Amino acid sequence: MSRCLSSAPGIVIAIDGPSGSGKSSVSREVARRLGLHYLDTGAMYRALTWWVSEQAIDLSDHSRLAEAARTFPLELSLDPDERHVRVGGTDVTEDIRGEVVTSAVSAVAADPGVRRGLIETQRRLMDDSRVNGTGIVAEGRDITTVVARDADVRVLLTASAAERQRRRLAEAGEATARTMAARDAADAKVNEFMTAAPGVSLVDTTSLGFDEVVEEVLRLVDAARE
Ligand code: DC
Repeated sequence: MSRCLSSAPGIVIAIDGPSGSGKSSVSREVARRLGLHYLDTGAMYRALTWWVSEQAIDLSDHSRLAEAARTFPLELSLDPDERHVRVGGTDVTEDIRGEVVTSAVSAVAADPGVRRGLIETQRRLMDDSRVNGTGIVAEGRDITTVVARDADVRVLLTASAAERQRRRLAEAGEATARTMAARDAADAKVNEFMTAAPGVSLVDTTSLGFDEVVEEVLRLVDAARE
């Protein structure tokens, strides 16, 4: 009798790390190679920040922020080859990477009610992918430690501060690289993402190329499946 693969639970892979660690591009590529869904939790914080600004919600209004996090009309593609993000029918894929959202997102992400709301949605999306057999790679700064502590594979990507700054400069130019370094410092107050929690595999990418990092994560996935 042939085995029905779709009835087996899908694998859940959680990847976190600071900016410049390669977390997003590596996570996306691992999802592509394994045919899994891809969840960019940072995009959710960014999309909510766009909505909060659009709706003129005051950052000191914690109850409205929490409600927005639970109910805002987000459409996020889980296809690693399809990047689109929509909020209330507006395509915000480009806007959420822009300066306005980037400079405000840390403050929104620091709100406890916002985190509770988005984490609930993240867990639901991950669970759906697990249950329907597709599986998922989820990335974000609290994925291995808070959101998906029970993921099948948990990986923290790091790189030396100098190497992360070099990558940011190469990707984004000097002004953006400075903003990103400042944002990392602000986010570090919310999430400890430079040391691996128990059960999380640390991959130091400082002297590895992109393909080598992807291969290393795929090795960890193979080891977890054995
Ligand atoms: O990874 P990114 O730069 O797209 O993240 C955007 C912001 O959201 C950044 O300030 C970190 C924050 N964030 C978070 O607090 N928790 C996550 N799981 C993902 C992102």
